[in-house]
Amino acid sequence: MISLPRYAGRKPGGRLKARPHTIRRKLGRWYERNARDLPWRRTSDPYAIWISEIMLQQTRVAAVIPYYERFLARFPTVESLAQASEPEVLTHWSGLGYYSRARNLHKAAREIAAGGSFPRDYAGLRALPGIGDYTAAAIASIVYDLPHAVVDGNVRRVLMRIGNDAAADAQALADGLLDRKRPGRWNQALMELGALVCVPGDPRCEACPISRECAAHAQGTQADLPPPRVKPETVRLERTLLVIRRRGRILLTPSSRVHGFWDLPEAFEGARMGMCIGSFRHTILHRQYRFQVFEGFAQNVPRPMRWFRLRGLDEIPLSTAARKALRCLGEE
Ligand code: ADE
Repeated sequence: MISLPRYAGRKPGGRLKARPHTIRRKLGRWYERNARDLPWRRTSDPYAIWISEIMLQQTRVAAVIPYYERFLARFPTVESLAQASEPEVLTHWSGLGYYSRARNLHKAAREIAAGGSFPRDYAGLRALPGIGDYTAAAIASIVYDLPHAVVDGNVRRVLMRIGNDAAADAQALADGLLDRKRPGRWNQALMELGALVCVPGDPRCEACPISRECAAHAQGTQADLPPPRVKPETVRLERTLLVIRRRGRILLTPSSRVHGFWDLPEAFEGARMGMCIGSFRHTILHRQYRFQVFEGFAQNVPRPMRWFRLRGLDEIPLSTAARKALRCLGEE
């Protein structure tokens, strides 16, 4: 660990701005008064908190809540998750995106169930599939109050602004600022400040409990931090999907876009296209798809395509694009 200087919030080339102790006290109190009542904050079950932290990677709180509740209702314990099949786990993740999270979660559940107990320290957590530095620190601090500092996108932005330094080593700053008496509260306070007040673009400094300790606020540079990232260029793609039905069944193929999911087929040898029944857009990372959906017909079906009961589609991992396409059926 790199230790922080006695004061955080160093002005570039200027004097040191604030005592870490003051920041900890003010932000900790603010969190106690302002923390949102989120479902994973009502439990101390390491399994449930683990699920929440995996879902919250790359996904917004509001989008996570209904998935978290449904997932825990279906898989209430690590054993129940370990015993489920992968398609069943993917089905409950369907729509959340970044499906390697669900596959890793499932693998990790099997490791935990085989090992007999949930890991109780950072190293044990970090060794599980799908758990990186951030998630291991989040679980270790929130569940066991162990002194590990989290750094995600929100926290990085808050720390850059406190120090008014775009080149700051965020992990070193976070390690130095960490409230070692209450690491769980502290980490969540930083996340909460980043989510509610110290937001990207124009932050709400008037509502910030530590604006007086913030070097960016003092210099008026808060809207310029962090500097904009260079985003990968958007790729636009056109695709055609076929809805081929036969006696209450529909033809599906393993998805080429999302591993482990089923999808509607595109044109294939032996298939005939009928009417266009709709179109829609769907974005995966930087790929923007425009799908046109056609009714289709086929006599011989090549492997690995398979027929599925139309009524049973909620029970299989079906790609979001296919779900959107099937809505066109209702609009025929
Ligand atoms: N983002 C990541 N972890 C979180 C948590 N525990 N609470 C709110 N937002 C989060």
